[in-house]
Amino acid sequence: MQTIQTVKAVREAVRVWHRHGERVALVPTMGALHEGHLALVDAARAHADRVVASVFVNPLQFGPNEDLARYPRNLERDRALLETRGVDLLYAPTVEEMYPEPAQVTVEPGGLAIRWDGAARPGHFVGVLTVVAKLFNQVAPDAAVFGQKDFQQVTVVRRMIHDLDWPIDLVVVPTVREADGLALSSRNAYLTPADRLEARRLSAAIREIQQAWVAGESDPGRLGSVGRAVLEAGQGVAVEYVALVDPVTLETPRFADATSVVLIAARVGTTRLIDNAALGQHLGGA
Ligand code: PAF
Repeated sequence: MQTIQTVKAVREAVRVWHRHGERVALVPTMGALHEGHLALVDAARAHADRVVASVFVNPLQFGPNEDLARYPRNLERDRALLETRGVDLLYAPTVEEMYPEPAQVTVEPGGLAIRWDGAARPGHFVGVLTVVAKLFNQVAPDAAVFGQKDFQQVTVVRRMIHDLDWPIDLVVVPTVREADGLALSSRNAYLTPADRLEARRLSAAIREIQQAWVAGESDPGRLGSVGRAVLEAGQGVAVEYVALVDPVTLETPRFADATSVVLIAARVGTTRLIDNAALGQHLGGA
């Protein structure tokens, strides 16, 4: 596996593969890799001849009071994990390489980012789309692989690919979970043992909502309240939102159906966690 840090070198490496008629898939990450990321790598391998994984902690997508400084970084460990999964190229640019000057022209996500994480984290999706657009231009992949775990992110990226005419296939991989249902996330590393137990409430809330829907409840507000109750019964759990949304518009539907997606954001201790699943989707885990 080669490790490359510059735009020029990554362009050249991919150009050589394209010249040989090979398909290239990109897995964008911020490092601190876990099995969820490695599932993205496996999916990338199934969709392409060559896999590029990027590791870049993108300052543009963190708010002033967020965890940019403490975000876990361990490039050597990430490198070893990617190598075991057969990644061809690790692209790990520095902040100076990615943003030689402060970004002036950025990518606006529009209406899909007004609500939910877009409201809770102002500017977050501008930062995400701007860096993803830069990675697309730098790597020129044929496919890009993202996790369903960040459902709103996937939705805005899909819309950006469509609206800006990128010839890139978007591959979305289901969330990987611990045996007790907790969605894998690099931020789980922040959880204290007590928080870790309470963090199970996010997936438990989704399951309760799914069960209420199977039992006949289709009112989005009432379904949301079912999930909220599970979360609010926890110690040190602060709910940001529990929403039922249309998977394309992210608006609340009049009545929930199997395709409606439960979106949850909650703070467990000092750690902000998100999770989601469609009402008709099997959650996995225990
Ligand atoms: O999901 C992430 O890890 C990041 O938001 C991404 C897509 C790598 C952009 O920085």
